[in-house]
Amino acid sequence: MSVRLKADLVLENIGELATPAASGKPARRGDAKRLLVSRNVCVAAGKGKILYLGKPEGMDDVVKLTDSTVVMDLEGRLVTPGFVDCHTHPLYYGDRADEFAMRAAGADYEEIAAAGGGILNSVARTRKASREQLEETLRKHLLTMLRYGTTTVEVKSGYGLDLETESRCLDVVTNFAENWPQTIRRTFLGAHEIPEEFRGRSDDFIEFLISEVLPEIKKRNLADFVDIFCEKGVFDPDQAARYLSKAAEMGFGVRIHADEFHDTGGAAVAVEVNAMSADHLLSISDENVSRIAASDTVATLLPGTALFLGKDFPDGRKLLDAGAAVAIATDLNPGSCYCESMPFMVNLAVCACGFTVEEALTAATLNSAAALGLEHRKGSLARGMDADMIIWDLNDYRGIAYHMAIPDIAHLIVSGEVFTEPEGNR
Ligand code: NIG
Ligand code: FE
Repeated sequence: MSVRLKADLVLENIGELATPAASGKPARRGDAKRLLVSRNVCVAAGKGKILYLGKPEGMDDVVKLTDSTVVMDLEGRLVTPGFVDCHTHPLYYGDRADEFAMRAAGADYEEIAAAGGGILNSVARTRKASREQLEETLRKHLLTMLRYGTTTVEVKSGYGLDLETESRCLDVVTNFAENWPQTIRRTFLGAHEIPEEFRGRSDDFIEFLISEVLPEIKKRNLADFVDIFCEKGVFDPDQAARYLSKAAEMGFGVRIHADEFHDTGGAAVAVEVNAMSADHLLSISDENVSRIAASDTVATLLPGTALFLGKDFPDGRKLLDAGAAVAIATDLNPGSCYCESMPFMVNLAVCACGFTVEEALTAATLNSAAALGLEHRKGSLARGMDADMIIWDLNDYRGIAYHMAIPDIAHLIVSGEVFTEPEGNR
C-alpha cells in the first residue's frame, strides 16, 4: 500500500484549472497555443509541492488531511500557475518621473541618455544609496508583483556599474530572498551602460568586469546569471560575445538585452553563446528570428517597454510562427518601463503583439520559467511541480487577458501557502 502524504493545503471546488502542459521544456508552435483545462477538480499541496491534482474522489487515495490542513472552497473559481517575471530591474534608488515628463513633452529616450540622464542618472543615485534604501525599493516592487500574481521573479543589478555598488545591490537581494515568499533569481548586469569613469573606453570596462568583478561575484555567490546591454552606443556584439563567453566559462547562465532600439545582431550573439534568453528584440532581423527559433534560447518580449517608450511593439506573431520559445516579462525599471504587472503584459501581448490568449499565458508562465532554467518546477501545474498558484475572481482563463490593467486576483498561493500581506506594509 502506498503511503499517503500529508496535505498542508487543499483547494476544493475549483471550477476551472488552466495550465500549460508540464512537459519540462518551453512550449513552441501548437504546444504554446494549447492550455490544459480541467473542470471541477481539486488540488492538494504539501511541503511546497503539488501532491494531487484531479477529481475530488481520487484525492483520499493519495493524500491525508490533518487538523492543520488548510482547506479552501474556491466556489468554482479559476486557478492558474503563478506568473514568472523573468526580466526586472528593481535594484536602484530614486525614480525618474522627471525624465518621463520630459519624454512626454517631446524628448527622446536615447537623447536623454546621451545627455547623462537615463541609466547613468539612476547609477549616480544608486551609488550613494544605503542598503536600507535599496532594500526598501526592492521590497516595494516585489510586494506589488505579489499583489499582481508573480510568484517567481528574476532581479537584475546594473545601476552600480562598479564592484562596490554592484556587489552591495546583489548582496541586498541575496539576503532579502532568504525571508521572502517569491522564488528569486539574481542577475549581474554590471554591463548595463558605460560608467563615467570609463567613458570612451568600453573595451577597458569590459576587461575590468571580466578580470575584477565577475570573479568576485562568483566567489561570493552573488548572482545566478550574467546579462549585458548590447545596443548601439553601449556594448557591441563582439564585446557582448566575448563577455558572455567568459561568464559562461565561469559557470554563470547568460542572457542578453538584444536588438532593442537597433538591429545590432544581439540575437545572433545570444544563439552563439547559448544564452538562456534574448530580451527585447523590438528590432530583430528576419534572419535572426529564424536563428533564435531554431535554438534553445528563449525570446523574451517586453511589451510594456515598447508602450512606455512609444516604440513599435515587438512582433510576437513572427517569432511564434517561426517556432521560437517566446516568454513575456515586465522589464520593471525606473527609466523605460515603470510597471510590475504581468496581467497587463498578458493583455498587451494579445492586444498589441499578435499573441493568442493561450500563447500569452504560456509566455508568462512556463516559457518565462524556462528563460530562468526553472521549467521543471515552475510555470505549470501538475503533481510534483511547485505549488505556486493564482486563484482568480474569474471562472474562465480568457478573462485574465481580457481585463485590461485590472487583475481579478482573489488569492495567491506561494510555495503551498496562502500569501498574506506582511505587517506594516502599504
Ligand atoms: O531593459 N535596456 C536597457 N535597460 C533597461 C532600461 C533601464 C533604464 O532606463 O533605467 C531596459 O529597458
Ligand atoms: Fe531590461
